[in-house]
Amino acid sequence: METRRLGGSGLTVPVVGMGTWRTFDVRGATAEADAARVVDAALESGAAFLDSSPMYGQAERVLGATLQGRRERALVATKLWTTDDADARAQAERALAWFGGRVELYQVHNLLAWPRRLSLLEALRDEGRVDALGATHYRADAFPELRRVMESGRITAVQVPYNPHEREVEHTILPLAAELDIGVVVMRPFGEGDLLRRAPGDTELEPFHAFGVRTWPQVLLKWILSDPRCHVAIPATSRPAHMAANAAAGEGPWFGADERSRVVRLASA
Ligand SMILES: NC(=O)c1ccc[n+]([C@@H]2O[C@H](COP(=O)([O-])OP(=O)(O)OC[C@H]3O[C@@H](n4cnc5c(N)ncnc54)[C@H](OP(=O)(O)O)[C@@H]3O)[C@@H](O)[C@H]2O)c1
Repeated sequence: METRRLGGSGLTVPVVGMGTWRTFDVRGATAEADAARVVDAALESGAAFLDSSPMYGQAERVLGATLQGRRERALVATKLWTTDDADARAQAERALAWFGGRVELYQVHNLLAWPRRLSLLEALRDEGRVDALGATHYRADAFPELRRVMESGRITAVQVPYNPHEREVEHTILPLAAELDIGVVVMRPFGEGDLLRRAPGDTELEPFHAFGVRTWPQVLLKWILSDPRCHVAIPATSRPAHMAANAAAGEGPWFGADERSRVVRLASA
């Protein structure tokens, strides 16, 4: 698995990681053991950048439990998601307890109360409990505000959607991130699964074999990561085999402009 420097965050990240929205919002021994097997696959394949949020129900707690005894093998990215200051402190203390006292990338989810949330995260960073700070939003109409946060100098990473159906970041966020040396985490690489509903056939995928990818999800991940301004993509999955297949897209050779255009055409067919 290729690794990249996550902008000026001080973190070096594998180019493929994993998200936990929906897939890790589970309860009970059987479901949590299934989640642990997905984490096994992520760690075995080097996709050890794991993203969560208090917005995802049980996901932070379940992810923390799956990392018991092997926390040092993962980079944990999570978020604060509240407008209430006392709630924010409680979210942080809970997450830090679940993640062994440390969070590598702590983000402000959906920019909620971001000036005050960043003050809390800066204090946690000063205490040595958090390595890097970021901010996330999933909607293009919030990107002007996200740009203001980037320009504030208070964060070193952003998390945004990027896939052949959602390309707004190409004009609004990626150029500024590159200019300011801000790391880019790519959420929703498969458009929450929408891009996988009609996969191109084997013949259409053949031109991508030379790039070490054979399946449509792998081609989509390689499309994202072939833009060097993107540092890590975090597909969510409930299946260990899908995790391993996704991780296999995390190595060069990378697509050039022709292959990237071909992927966009296939995605809009
Ligand atoms: N900050 C924000 O505002 C925000 C918003 C949205 C998402 N996110 C983050 O980004 C992460 C990813 O986005 P997402 O969860 O919305 O969707 P996604 O990663 O674009 O798509 C997830 C879907 O893809 C399927 N999938 C994954 N790998 C596959 C493979 N190899 N073959 C076939 N199907 C595959 C999964 O089904 P299976 O379970 O069957 O594999 C799942 O249904 C989230 O989990 C979360 O951490 C953040």
